[in-house]
Amino acid sequence: QPVRLTDYRPPDWLVDTVDLDVRLHPQATRVVARLGMRPNPLGRPGAPIVLDGDELELKSVALDGAPLAGAGYAATPSSLTILAPPQEPLVLTIETVLDPSANTKLMGLYCSSGTYCTQCEAEGFRRITYFPDRPDVLAVYTTRIEAEREEAPVLLGNGNKVESGDIEGTTRHFAVWHDPWPKPCYLFALVGGKLDRITEPFVTATGKEVELGIYVEPGKAARAGYAMDALKRSMRWDEEVFGCEYDLDVFNIVAVADFNMGAMENKGLNVFNDKYVLASPETATDADYANIEAIIAHEYFHNWTGNRITCRDWFQLCLKEGLTVFRDQEFSSDQRSRPVKRIADVRLLKSHQFAEDAGPLAHPVRPATYREINNFYTATVYEKGAEVVRMLKTLLGEEGFRAGMDLYFDRHDGQAATVEEFLTCFADANGADLSQFALWYAQSGTPQVEVNGHWDAAARSYRLDVRQTQVPTPGQPDKQPMLIPLALGLVGADGRDLPLVPDDGTNAAGSVLVVSRPEQSFVFRDVEARPVPSINRGFSAPVKLTTNLASEDLLFLARHDTDPFNRFEAGQTLALAHLVSASGLAPEKTLAGALAAGGTALVEALIEALGASLEDETLDPAFIAQVLSVPSEGDIAREIGSEVDPDAIHAARRSLRRALGEALRPGLERAYGRHAPDGAYSPDAVSAGRRALRNAALELMASTGEAADIARALAHFETADNMTDRFFALSVLAHHAPAERDAALDAFYQRFRDDPLVIDKWLALQAQIAEPETLERVRELTRHPAFSMGNPNRVRALIGNFAAANQTQFHRPDGAGHLFVADAVLELDRRNPQVAARLLGAFKSWRSLEPTRRGSAERALRRIADGPGLSPDVSDIVARSLG
Ligand code: ARG
Ligand code: ZN
Repeated sequence: QPVRLTDYRPPDWLVDTVDLDVRLHPQATRVVARLGMRPNPLGRPGAPIVLDGDELELKSVALDGAPLAGAGYAATPSSLTILAPPQEPLVLTIETVLDPSANTKLMGLYCSSGTYCTQCEAEGFRRITYFPDRPDVLAVYTTRIEAEREEAPVLLGNGNKVESGDIEGTTRHFAVWHDPWPKPCYLFALVGGKLDRITEPFVTATGKEVELGIYVEPGKAARAGYAMDALKRSMRWDEEVFGCEYDLDVFNIVAVADFNMGAMENKGLNVFNDKYVLASPETATDADYANIEAIIAHEYFHNWTGNRITCRDWFQLCLKEGLTVFRDQEFSSDQRSRPVKRIADVRLLKSHQFAEDAGPLAHPVRPATYREINNFYTATVYEKGAEVVRMLKTLLGEEGFRAGMDLYFDRHDGQAATVEEFLTCFADANGADLSQFALWYAQSGTPQVEVNGHWDAAARSYRLDVRQTQVPTPGQPDKQPMLIPLALGLVGADGRDLPLVPDDGTNAAGSVLVVSRPEQSFVFRDVEARPVPSINRGFSAPVKLTTNLASEDLLFLARHDTDPFNRFEAGQTLALAHLVSASGLAPEKTLAGALAAGGTALVEALIEALGASLEDETLDPAFIAQVLSVPSEGDIAREIGSEVDPDAIHAARRSLRRALGEALRPGLERAYGRHAPDGAYSPDAVSAGRRALRNAALELMASTGEAADIARALAHFETADNMTDRFFALSVLAHHAPAERDAALDAFYQRFRDDPLVIDKWLALQAQIAEPETLERVRELTRHPAFSMGNPNRVRALIGNFAAANQTQFHRPDGAGHLFVADAVLELDRRNPQVAARLLGAFKSWRSLEPTRRGSAERALRRIADGPGLSPDVSDIVARSLG
């Protein structure tokens, strides 16, 4: 039953053209598909035509215009087979009916708040018509959409609009869209509804005019301006940085309220979760603005990496996703602060991807097998996939990387490609051997890298002994050593980098150590005094690093490293070590163990180093805010690794924050005052950074629980003129001021009750409170009129955050949190398997819990496994989780 990468066969039949006639109707939408097909010369001669289908009602089949009798084909709920087709080009006409209103899976054609829309990736097109639903069948699509004028005045499709009009004598109208670029069916889309729009012209690098449109629910057009601005900046950036120009006359984006994922890159017609389009200062936070910018860019960048060059099969998903995440990260870095963006990306990588890699759901960036492809839109495919592309750039250099990309666009435009073909472009363009590097796509798990540095005073040299270890992961007991680029600096006593003079035989490309063997040493000459090595700068490789740096060395880097990422990371490493030991579980001989032995002096030194950054006015406030953040509960749990007690972790983290708030109070107060708003809200990165630091200061002070600090938070909440400040203050009150909490939450609700995206923040916040009453609160909120099991954003906000962002309450020792989420998964699964499966992913670290909680998590997982009629999505995740 699982699909295997090694089983790939080219399709037996190709589709050159698709003509669709879609008559929209809320319960009975009629689709007539005319497929221009021919036998694939690379396929099996004489093969029947086998098409995929899902929940379709078949009305008729015709071959070259002649109705096909029942004996000529075989239809099942999941396929349509044309039994003995002539082995020559032919036109297959298929008429089906589907019910968009009953489509609660939100895959295929469905209605979202009165708007017809589609989601076809990965395998949703088969829910619209019978088709070879695989990404290596590329066709030119023409789509005629017809609807009641009243119900759907706006009709959108892929490509350019070629015709539209009323249907005389009826209340209906139509539009015909033609997309000249051959594409796989997962990039098909159509939209019909009552929508407002904003438009802007865009002129491409070579002078082609493009009309940009963003369509939103009536009355919300004013909130689409930032997305439009981000779109224009993305289009220009892709021309300048990658030489990629847009290729149609129009580019449309539609925001819908009910959407399984973030957004979708359908050719010329991106469909978005409205959360990633709509923003106003009153309703969106700085983080929302940054996400909108990144996701608008991401979907736009897919036009070349994903659409013009697509994937041969779904195992190659990272070919488009990892690469496109890398591209959107680079875009945001160029638009904002590169170091701060890098820190944010690495934090996300560690919290999601490292956690995935360390548990039962670990899989390679390019999986070798799957049972349900929808379960592989993961942090590993996306975020680790982006890291792999980033390493390629680190290894080949800026120009070598660009040469490889140019060759990739040149060689594979119009094709459905593979990871091997992608890598071959970089190898060919650079004369490089990337065979060992390719293991990053095949081996799962986070490599462990141990680096020990030694200064030899007599020889005036510095040696780094590097050892890499690949830990076993599901299905991969044994692994090979990988190619790991470690960016390095040797920091002198004055805080400046020493020149790196590699000894003969040391494999260093510039300042990057290229580690390729299980154990390897690198030697540098002319090192007069003992330096402090700054290793894996910029997080050049996605590995778990351990070193023989003493805590004084880390304190030194936290104050002086010129690499901002490692300056941040040094403080985090120390804080993490302290938190692990303070959670009472310090393993012997680790830094945490040493710290536990070293006592409070080191914590004081750490706080002092953080205080120095806080006072350093040459530093970017956004960077200081990151430096002051305490490692998350998940980070601490992962570092501990086994027998995890979330309550102990929570307590340790809370007391470190209180200690920071007390010890740094004067500096925090100054920062709070210095970064007070000085004008109207603007979402730009510099203003956002000042708010981030001011709010971090507010929270650290409030974590002391002092009455004056709570009063400050309350005033901050009441006087805020933007959502960033208002919501941040609300969250400070919710977490640190139980007495003020409910009144503030209620005031917030009353103010924003008609704004579902803001209500999501209100739901999420309440789900995250680390108190035993939270479960009952969450349970009650599931019955609140603002909540709906049918809307993925509501479900993720309330139940998703409870499960993924409230470690103490989800993992309550009495098991009630596990049980609650298990029951929610079972209920959701009947409605929307993809959302249910994603929620279930919250159990991914269950094996590392202490025995009581581990037992209750296992019982909850077994309860799900025993559920009747599980979807493939949920049964796959539950089986692997228990596996
Ligand atoms: N390709 C989309 C993106 O990365 C995500 C689509 C996910 N779809 C799914 N069924 N899992 O932007
Ligand atoms: Zn994507």
